Amino acid sequence: MTRHFLDLADAGGDAIAAMINDAIDRKAARAAWPKGKPDADAPLAGHVLAMIFEKASTRTRVSFDIAMRQLGGSALVMDAGSMQLGRGETIPDTARVLSRMADAIMIRTDDHAKVEELARHASVPVINGLTDRSHPCQIVADLLTLIERGHALPGLQLAWLGDGNNVLNSLIEAAGLMKFTVRVGGPSGYEPDRGYVERARAAGGEVVLTQNARNAVAGAQAVVTDCWVSMGQHETNAQVVAMQPYQVDEALMAAAAPGATFLHCLPAHRGEEVVDAVIDGEQSAVWDEAENRIHAQKSILRWVFGQL
Ligand code: CP
Ligand code: NVA
Repeated sequence: MTRHFLDLADAGGDAIAAMINDAIDRKAARAAWPKGKPDADAPLAGHVLAMIFEKASTRTRVSFDIAMRQLGGSALVMDAGSMQLGRGETIPDTARVLSRMADAIMIRTDDHAKVEELARHASVPVINGLTDRSHPCQIVADLLTLIERGHALPGLQLAWLGDGNNVLNSLIEAAGLMKFTVRVGGPSGYEPDRGYVERARAAGGEVVLTQNARNAVAGAQAVVTDCWVSMGQHETNAQVVAMQPYQVDEALMAAAAPGATFLHCLPAHRGEEVVDAVIDGEQSAVWDEAENRIHAQKSILRWVFGQL
């Protein structure tokens, strides 16, 4: 069976834990090495990852490329607009062709159904590099960062502030798989996907939805936010106004547990969802979180290739 990574549940809690442990070990083993130097065992030597981007990216694009180099393989990046896909070649035909030319495919797109269709027709692993619905690769890096900061996942109290977007859906999915609590503070009409919430609760995660930002962060060991308007969304003044009470500022961080960790997947809109004093402050782990995209991608890649 070809292993696809379209959502965290495709791997499951045990495999996510194995990915995090693998990432910690591999990161330690190459500390201070030049970033493009392959790991000593080069476990994906000779393998090629084909990446398709229908949306902008800095971290996902660079981290997958560097991850493949460190695993001994290589990656190629294609903007969908310059592919035949952008002129109407079908997703199934694209999947068939890339499966003959590359060993795995990563795609960032809008409609989640496109990733599912690609996976149905590909004979090599397909990885979701972000859709309008979810961003599972980001959350593997976030969980790794939380563990590095000394948090244990089972029982963790985590607060999310702002829009109920793709990153939050995957975080909620992780809460079910790894048994922690997500308290979401956000405005009415911008809640996370109901399916992710229900599945996480059924799996043993706790998901609390509140419109009160203070209640969301009270006692939280980690505070997480993201942009108020995601890529592909039409920004309205009403949305920006609705999000204002959920801005992560010093007062809100002070209402969380002492020393709570601040995370943001980036890119940040400073002065909107987070103020400079928080993102640049001592409790912020955002630069580790960004670097950890490399270490997480490596373990995701090793998992899709059956090495974990
Ligand atoms: N966090 C994240 O996915 O960043 P990019 O959009 O830069 O890839
Ligand atoms: N929610 C954001 C994440 C960017 C990495 C977006 O989809 O634009």
